[in-house]
Amino acid sequence: MLRTVRIAGTGSYLPEKILTNYDLEKIVDTTHEWIHSRSGISERHIAAEGEATSHMAAAAARRALDSAGLSAEDLDLIIVGTITPDMVFPNTACFVQDQIGATQAFCFDVEAACSGFLYALDIARHYVASGTATHVMVIGAEKLSGITDWEDRTTCVLFGDGAGAVILSAAEHGRGIMKTVMGSDGRLNELLNVPGGGSRHPASHKTVDDRLHYMKMAGREVFKHAVRCMSDAATQALDECGLTVKDVSCIIPHQANARIINAIASRLGAREDQVFMNLDHVGNMSAASVPVALDEAVAAGRIKSGDIVLFVVFGGGFTWGATVLEW
Ligand code: UT7
Repeated sequence: MLRTVRIAGTGSYLPEKILTNYDLEKIVDTTHEWIHSRSGISERHIAAEGEATSHMAAAAARRALDSAGLSAEDLDLIIVGTITPDMVFPNTACFVQDQIGATQAFCFDVEAACSGFLYALDIARHYVASGTATHVMVIGAEKLSGITDWEDRTTCVLFGDGAGAVILSAAEHGRGIMKTVMGSDGRLNELLNVPGGGSRHPASHKTVDDRLHYMKMAGREVFKHAVRCMSDAATQALDECGLTVKDVSCIIPHQANARIINAIASRLGAREDQVFMNLDHVGNMSAASVPVALDEAVAAGRIKSGDIVLFVVFGGGFTWGATVLEW
């Protein structure tokens, strides 16, 4: 008998330093007006020198533990979704374990680019549902500033750093996490990637000279696929739960671009007040986007017990997915 699984606590962390669109005007040939009208972003947070993904993840994790009323020793498993791990190995979840003192947990990372948090959430749900784990920490954390080409105005204006965390536990009442649908299309890997530093192009003077350690994105192409895949995944997930968009109190989409989010909302037939957006002050934080937005939505009182919540994501790979849950 599978157990019902709910989100028992949330937490987030944003680094102190803020980089505004006006600051970017001094770095590349751009304007606040262009960035804001094309993406909806005004500013983003940037990690301090020496501040790694795990430091941000651990800060978010401590807040999630507080909100769930648990201690780090209560955790059986930590999963971090990230494309910016502290090191090639060990995994970032192990660094988080060390920093928060989760001595009873086993730890691994999930790499599904901007979809990483949602993929990790689904894996974690299975562990709790089957009874293999009791409390699981799921984190989305990114230091995208470290893989951003600060000479490329088409990408550097979009991304930010941060971390969000949730704790999954068994639910005694309600439906909890009801459904996740996920998809991938590896044929489109070239439209969004960091080519260098892996086994295809191991780090060398040449990979550095060729700027292969930075994010490359065919923005317009990615935009089209993002709108289609996210709206289709959201529709499928709601259908499979026997729900319609009218039943949803809060939609939390991946925060890549306000125009993408508005296009999805319009395809789904959602009202503006059903959709939660925070990218104006954080930019696109890849795997951290949804858990940070969720924590902010909870803090703002946008989600209450019994509400139907929809997460929908899209990222490099391509990867995408949607989750429906009852809060
Ligand atoms: O998180 C993973 C998923 N990522 C996404 O979903 C991102 C998807 N893509 C996007 O959000 C949008 O495509 C962007 C925000 C990246 C770009 O918006 P766009 O409306 O697709 O602009 P564009 O790439 O078609 O560029 C329009 C013009 C170009 O000039 P020309 O060719 O029309 O003369 C660009 O060179 O804007 C120019 N441009 C800029 N101008 C000022 C590109 N970047 C900038 C810039 N400042 N930063």
